[in-house]
Amino acid sequence: MATRRKLCIGMSLAPTWLSGEGWRADDSNIDGLFSSDFALDIARMAEAVHLDFVFRPDTLYLPMERLEQSFGFTSLDSTMLMAAIARETSHIGLVTTVSTTLQQPYLVARQLMSLHWLSKGRAGWNIVTAMQGQENFGMESLPKSEDRYAEAAEFTDVVHRLWASFPADAVLADRASGRYADTSKIHPINHVGRSYRIKGPLNLPAYPGPRVPLIQAGASGAGRDFAAATADIVFAMTPDFDAAKELRDDLSARAVAHGRAPEDIRVLPGIGLYLGETRVEAEALFSATHARIPRERRLDKVLDALGLDLRNWPDARQVTAADLPPAKPRTAMLEARLRRLITAEAPTVAQLLNRHELVAAPHWTIVGTVEDAVAEIAEWHGAGVIDGMILAPCGSTRSMHIALQQLVPALARAGLFRSAYTGTHFADHLGIA
Ligand SMILES: Cc1cc2nc3c(=O)[nH]c(=O)nc-3n(C[C@H](O)[C@H](O)[C@H](O)COP(=O)(O)O)c2cc1C
Repeated sequence: MATRRKLCIGMSLAPTWLSGEGWRADDSNIDGLFSSDFALDIARMAEAVHLDFVFRPDTLYLPMERLEQSFGFTSLDSTMLMAAIARETSHIGLVTTVSTTLQQPYLVARQLMSLHWLSKGRAGWNIVTAMQGQENFGMESLPKSEDRYAEAAEFTDVVHRLWASFPADAVLADRASGRYADTSKIHPINHVGRSYRIKGPLNLPAYPGPRVPLIQAGASGAGRDFAAATADIVFAMTPDFDAAKELRDDLSARAVAHGRAPEDIRVLPGIGLYLGETRVEAEALFSATHARIPRERRLDKVLDALGLDLRNWPDARQVTAADLPPAKPRTAMLEARLRRLITAEAPTVAQLLNRHELVAAPHWTIVGTVEDAVAEIAEWHGAGVIDGMILAPCGSTRSMHIALQQLVPALARAGLFRSAYTGTHFADHLGIA
């Protein structure tokens, strides 16, 4: 087998380690959540262990349901946050999240290129179509998947053409002749498309260095197809090995259909990490993090996902494959995951209700020691189902510190990750032109 590329690793700046009960700990620094220092400390730690990038998911709406108990989706604007980090770091990629459904291409082209300049070539764009928030932008509902991704494709194309509309070498700044720019190199784009009419050119020259890498997060067929055509990295939700394998195989096939090589698209699942010195410590951290999630809500989730009502089942009774109702015609990710889990492990009701799939998003999750995490990551990488991951440490600040200060160096020692940067641009870390 050909030697696999080393892992590509990003760090989530969404403070996943403070979700659940994590923010209530004395050392959580929750009061500093909206200061630039909060994210900077983590970005510096991530850069010290040579991560490819820091990453901020972002949304443009405020779900109130959980806000009494946790910070939920409250956050600084992700592009402004990355601009604050840019001057204080020197190597790490800075990935901001920008919606193609809710924002305007000219403004976005300008903001991203500004971040690319301010960071000396380290901007990355996580292209999302948006989960919700349309009512904050004059829309009653989000367009259906195919339309959203058609718009995303047009949006992304326009942003690239705007970047190209004012090339770096158009700036002469020739003091002797007094000629500032060669305007023959700067052109309007005169775009008239299904969703946008944009004249251009952009009022900012392109950064004279490697391009802005593109990340995409979206799970539907239309989303995957857009990623296969466009993205360098896919931020994925893959709750188990089978889901990661299915996604990797599917993206590879779609990449080839778009005339790209499978390895042009790096699959990076989010990975929830509840880390401790011992497994017992890690498991206690996991349970404590989700202690306030009521049993009723967990039971409802099982009922919703599987159509299986466990309300009157004793805690010690095993749930087996024979108990599963027939699969729904279009199996959702959580349903598929729970069906596989029950078939493989036949957990007791108590064990099932304490599973991370029921109390957090169905991301790949490891509850254990650094050694446990290295072994599982090496297995997935060795099998070729992932190209890296986005670290989302959970439970406590300590778990986050273990992830950055112990797990990443352990991956480097195992030969799975770089032990030094070889370039200063984000694209250099990915090995793309
Ligand atoms: C792993 C993952 C992360 C996402 N992160 C964000 C985000 O930070 N902000 C956002 O507005 N939408 C986010 N989305 C939503 C997607 O951009 C997309 O709008 C949504 O998933 C619908 O597209 P799909 O049908 O292809 O999944 C995310 C989706 C996935 C699967």
